[in-house]
Amino acid sequence: MQALDEADNPYQASAVLAQSAAGDRLPANGLDHKSFLVIETGPQIAPYAISAVCTHLGCAVNWDQSEQAFVCPCHGSRYDALGQVTGGPASRNLALVTAVVKDDQIGLLEREPAENPRS
Ligand code: FES
Repeated sequence: MQALDEADNPYQASAVLAQSAAGDRLPANGLDHKSFLVIETGPQIAPYAISAVCTHLGCAVNWDQSEQAFVCPCHGSRYDALGQVTGGPASRNLALVTAVVKDDQIGLLEREPAENPRS
């Protein structure tokens, strides 16, 4: 599925990179749930994205750029910039999906990335 911005327009990789810096996390629609694209040093788009589905009860987490953390608005669970849980009530990390850049389009696939960025 194509990664879509919050207005459901397809993201263009070149435009994303022109407006982003390493460390940014960009909300993306396209899968059955919201995800966050990850901008790495370069800047470049990481080959994975982070599911926004809180592992507590499924609310969509928000990205707090200043704190470099994902925060759930429902019951306050917190996750680091890679989606690893740092505060409950959630006890599991956010899921990872695969991101693919091709022909200036960004694709999202509902499967684990080839390389785990957390290891
Ligand atoms: S659903 Fe996220 S903390 Fe409860």
